[in-house]
Amino acid sequence: MTAITLQTERLMLRPWRDEDIEAWVDLCADERVMEFFPSTVDRAESTSTALRLRERLERNGYGWWVLERRSEPGFIGAIALQEVPFEAAFTPALEIGWRLSVAAWGRGYATEGARAALNFAFEQLERDEVVAMTSTPNVRSRRVMERLGMRRDPRDDFENPRIEMGHRLRPHVLYRASGPGATAASAH
Ligand SMILES: CC(C)(COP(=O)(O)OP(=O)(O)OC[C@H]1O[C@@H](n2cnc3c(N)ncnc32)[C@H](O)[C@@H]1OP(=O)(O)O)[C@@H](O)C(=O)NCCC(=O)NCCS
Repeated sequence: MTAITLQTERLMLRPWRDEDIEAWVDLCADERVMEFFPSTVDRAESTSTALRLRERLERNGYGWWVLERRSEPGFIGAIALQEVPFEAAFTPALEIGWRLSVAAWGRGYATEGARAALNFAFEQLERDEVVAMTSTPNVRSRRVMERLGMRRDPRDDFENPRIEMGHRLRPHVLYRASGPGATAASAH
């Protein structure tokens, strides 16, 4: 399948180009961006992750898209739609995520890009639900979830099995968004 490009008023979610790999390496080495991850990521690991994400997006038609402004070419981050890569009470589930360069924060780009990915999940993939998760103290990311109209039930809070026991970032919150299919089904 060919990776699909999504467009919004100001943004494009598009497939990867070679020059995006270097920008992804810089993004994942930035301590401000990685504040709510266990650590920053080194060049070798980020490069191999980017190559894997690129290949998966091209194979599946959705995944980790590069985020770019329509008015000014160049990588400003990534918006993701992927199956949750571990087992938990709420899996299997499709999750939405975001990681933007600090220079692109504070302009509504994450929310605008994520809304396009959410619509894609509901309309093209015909999913009834999409989840989002982050470590509990990541207020900026939680605000994106709230701006998207996603809902948190504290009973869904969980410990992320990919983070070591006792780590301050292990407790996570889960937010859910329901698609029009789910609403229609529950209305009948
Ligand atoms: C999480 C992250 C994507 C949020 O970015 P963000 O810029 O705060 O989020 P948005 O793109 O939705 O922008 C909203 C902000 O832009 C402001 N804004 C300015 N112009 C706007 C516009 N036209 N439309 C909407 N919001 C606008 C809003 O007021 C809001 O600012 P505020 O939160 O200070 O009130 C970003 O902080 C990030 O990449 N963090 C590191 C990676 C990370 O933690 N990812 C999540 C891991 S699960």
